[in-house]
Amino acid sequence: MKKLAIGNDHAATQMKFEIMEYLQGKGYELINVGTDTNESMDYPVSGYKVAKLVADGQVDGGIAICGTGIGISLACNKVKGIRAVACSEPYSAKMSRRHNNSNVLCFGARVIGIETAKDIVDAWLDAEFEGGRHQRRVDLITKIEQDQEL
Ligand code: RB5
Repeated sequence: MKKLAIGNDHAATQMKFEIMEYLQGKGYELINVGTDTNESMDYPVSGYKVAKLVADGQVDGGIAICGTGIGISLACNKVKGIRAVACSEPYSAKMSRRHNNSNVLCFGARVIGIETAKDIVDAWLDAEFEGGRHQRRVDLITKIEQDQEL
């Protein structure tokens, strides 16, 4: 992944800026679709913008941050083709790429500190989907999404 969408609500503006600076320093190209102020706003709006860019193939993946990471991940997952995960530690982030082919990483600015957030982002970006039996399982998730049945 080289080009990423990043979005946030008011609870995560400062963390978003710090993650942006961190990733730009590593050479990632970012599209910022979140709020840049601390004024209260609705996280589904930012989650949708991140998810849409990913689903449309305009970026390789997305990062979405709110207070807990939960609300914004729920919003992202309503967009077809999105597998958003809310992570509070690096192991889950890494495995969500390897086994679940996650394409949006979410976390909570009120849950973790910036250094843990950077570790989570690194773990997620450095991991690759393993395919094989995991592809079959991801395909089943997609079937549920498309058909609303298995
Ligand atoms: C905003 O207060 C908060 O609800 C939001 O950032 C997020 O935690 C929702 O899941």
